[in-house]
This record gives sequence, C-alpha cells and structure tokens, in this order.
Amino acid sequence: MRIVGIAGSPRKGGNSTTLLETALEAAQEQGHTTKCLVARRLKVQPCIACEGCKRGPKCVVDDEMHDVYAAIAHADILVVATPIYYYAASGWLKAVVDRTYGLLDRESKPRIAPGKRLYVITTQEESDPADGAVVVRQLERAFAWLGMEPAGSMIATDLDEAQAVLERPDLLQAARDLLTSGPSG
Ligand SMILES: Cc1cc2nc3c(=O)[nH]c(=O)nc-3n(C[C@H](O)[C@H](O)[C@H](O)COP(=O)(O)O)c2cc1C
Repeated sequence: MRIVGIAGSPRKGGNSTTLLETALEAAQEQGHTTKCLVARRLKVQPCIACEGCKRGPKCVVDDEMHDVYAAIAHADILVVATPIYYYAASGWLKAVVDRTYGLLDRESKPRIAPGKRLYVITTQEESDPADGAVVVRQLERAFAWLGMEPAGSMIATDLDEAQAVLERPDLLQAARDLLTSGPSG
C-alpha cells in the first residue's frame, strides 16, 4: 500500500506530527510505502474560490498544492494529523483541505480514484475527546467528497508542550497500531 501522511502542526516535534510519523514508521515496517508532507513546509495558499478548477481540468493556482494533489492521487491511504486550534483543525491543514476542491470536477465528482482509506489523528490540550471527535468528523466529511472511506482515527488529549507525547507510551503504541492492526492493516 502507498500511504501519504499530511502533518498539520507548525511545531518542530509537534505531538500530532510525532504520532503521524510513528504510525507511518509502523506501516513501513510492515512493508508499506510511506511519505509524509508537512503543511507548514509547503507553499500552499488558501483556496480563492476562483472556480478555475471547474472551468478547466485542474486547479489554476500555481503552487505546491499540485504536489499534494499528485501524492493523494497516487496513494491508497491518506493519514491527516492536526493539533486542535480553537476546536478546529489547524489553519495549515485547513488550507490544504480547502484546496482539495481542485480535485473535484464541475459536477463535484472526484478526479481521483474512489475508495482510498482515510485516517485522522488529532491532538489537544484539553481532556474532552468530544473536541477531537468534531474535527475527525469534519475531516472525514471533507475527504468523503473525494470518495475516501473513513478507516480509523486517534484522538489524543491532555497534550500541551511539543514532544509531550514522548512521555505517553500508551499514545505512541496506539499510533503504531492505527494503520497496522485489523484485517486490512
Ligand atoms: C492557537 C492554538 C489554539 C489552540 N486551541 C486549542 C483548543 O481549542 N483546545 C485544546 O484542547 N487545545 C488547544 N490548543 C493546544 C494544542 O492543541 C495542543 O498543544 C496540541 O498538543 C498541539 O499539537 P502539536 O504539538 O501537534 O502542535 C491550542 C494551541 C494553539 C497554539
């Protein structure tokens, strides 16, 4: 399987990025091919709603989102990871999500093959997993437009400082299991 991760944290050693990398490493150990994109390192401007992608065959904004389009098109599995910022996904990830509008044609049909599997990882400081669940649901709905099927999620709570997750073996193990446990892992 080809697995692409998109990290939505802007922080070095971000908790969500660490969990994403841990999940990808475990998948790699099982023979899957993995690639990790970090939203902050990409030149991706927010969607300008020009509808150029509906008049023509692709998004007309010339930036590195086209690398993300190619990576998603090529992947069997997408894993998105984000810190919770004000009860939502980070702006870094949201910009990428909005730009996936360019993968929908004029009839809002996906320009990529359907049936890709989607996993979501969220991290937050507060303790209520319902906050993360809202964001998981939002991301699952967004990527459903591209014909992706929700395959699993991980909501990590009570994490504040970057690298706090390194003190949480339970979460690191859950990340290792996220893509690799179960019948299709
Ligand atoms: C701008 C900003 C907004 C935040 N909003 C929330 C929030 O709404 N709820 C929460 O539980 N934590 C919030 N946090 C804390 C982060 O979600 C938390 O530190 C998380 O572990 C960061 O993940 P990261 O290390 O992957 O960046 C916020 C942090 C920042 C910087």
